[in-house]
Amino acid sequence: MNERVQKRAVRQSFDRAAVSYDSVAGLQRQVCDLLLAAISMRPAPTLATTILDAGCGTGYGQRLLAAQWPDARLVAADFAHGMLIGSTGERICADIEALPLPADTFDLYWSSLSIQWCNPQRVIAEAARVLAPRGVLAVSSLGTGTLAELHHAFAGVDQHRHVLEFSPEQLLAEACTAAGLRNLMLETRSIRRYHPDLKTLLRTLKSLGANQVGANRRPGLFGRQVWQEIEARYDSLREDAGLPATYQVILCTALK
Ligand SMILES: C[S@@+](CC[C@H](N)C(=O)[O-])C[C@H]1O[C@@H](n2cnc3c(N)ncnc32)[C@H](O)[C@@H]1O
Repeated sequence: MNERVQKRAVRQSFDRAAVSYDSVAGLQRQVCDLLLAAISMRPAPTLATTILDAGCGTGYGQRLLAAQWPDARLVAADFAHGMLIGSTGERICADIEALPLPADTFDLYWSSLSIQWCNPQRVIAEAARVLAPRGVLAVSSLGTGTLAELHHAFAGVDQHRHVLEFSPEQLLAEACTAAGLRNLMLETRSIRRYHPDLKTLLRTLKSLGANQVGANRRPGLFGRQVWQEIEARYDSLREDAGLPATYQVILCTALK
């Protein structure tokens, strides 16, 4: 699958998931709350007048930002049209790797859990371009080790990829430095969620639109026996609360 085809598949997944997203997006809401708290840990744009929510999804981040900066002009961007239907105010259907927005515009560039679907260098370079001088960047992503249990369950069953490849925190740091951003603050938090069984976890990822794993995806389904082996491998990790799913959440803030 080339990059363009892959991106289209990701966009279509999120488009389809727009109706179910909110019912399963507990982690995503939690991460938005953490990202807002991360902004408050630094001299922030207390008088932020122009804010961009890049990869806005159904708009939880927008509502948080509007509550924090009620007088700000808020622009929301997402490439999945379905996601934009739920958000209010100024919206643009656009790729955050190539924003149709003027340079030096936003006091705050916000993007929560979208960049892991993109080329981080391109997204951060675009963020730096559209940020106003002294503007604040606030980005969350998922790092290496995310969904390690799922990776473990599928390990060795075939040559295909079953879990998205997540990048290390260092890559985001390098992208920020390359884009000329300064005063970088990076933190990775390990967050664990629990599911009653593997099917529920996979259904949750699909309902979020997060079921695309990039190139080298398996084209067909598994036979019954292989599937039972995968379930048994995941089940060996079961805890009292259920099957664990770990997310390495990267919180990144910087200044232009
Ligand atoms: C996991 S959701 C997060 C949504 C929202 N920020 C939140 O915290 O709930 C990821 C979002 O990023 C969007 N997205 C992914 N890649 C994108 C790209 N290249 N350009 C624009 N939006 C993108 C998806 O359509 C989806 O709405």
